[in-house]
Amino acid sequence: MEKNKLNLMVKSIGIKKLKTAIFISGNGSNMKNLIRFSKIKNSPIVVDFVLSNNKKANGITHVKKNKINFKIFDFKQRDNDEKKILDILKKRKIQLICLAGFMKILSRNFIKKFKGKILNIHPSLLPKYKGLNTHERVILNNEKFSGCTVHIVNARLDSGKIILQKQVRINKKDNPETLSKKILKQEHILYPKALKKMFSKF
Ligand code: GRF
Repeated sequence: MEKNKLNLMVKSIGIKKLKTAIFISGNGSNMKNLIRFSKIKNSPIVVDFVLSNNKKANGITHVKKNKINFKIFDFKQRDNDEKKILDILKKRKIQLICLAGFMKILSRNFIKKFKGKILNIHPSLLPKYKGLNTHERVILNNEKFSGCTVHIVNARLDSGKIILQKQVRINKKDNPETLSKKILKQEHILYPKALKKMFSKF
């Protein structure tokens, strides 16, 4: 349903690639990976704008190097910041938002304005382990598997429609750090794959 809506929109505008904004908070490895992916000929996205709530986010250096427009909003006054962000997104004709390690919770109103057009990657096999500190909780519970999930963002945390998941086996020697590295590697494969799946006509 949501996929169809977006495809219809792309068809009606008659453009090939979806103008995409990426929201980050820190390291930005998923963002870097999406920027790399966007440059592939058959990629369904073009990264037009990056937003960070953290001016010290490592990812910003990469954004500058790639001459991609970016803005910092610290979200201390969320409603105000979101209004300004929505203006920017409208002006830039952004069609898709990819959250990539974005640690702020978007308001119900913001999500409504981009209904079905915000994606997120979460480092667990949703619906299990929503929220923060997933790897710690997974290890404490002696789980044999964890993984990552790309999903559509709705008003409830980590709860929207699942697009794709990848399972990762947990070894006895794994700790939250090793598990996080293993899963991050898979995230870098999964996010582009999910975008291709959603916009398969490309
Ligand atoms: C990833 O594990 C992502 O799933 C989670 O935060 C981490 C961000 O990593 N939401 P990076 O900033 O993309 O390197």
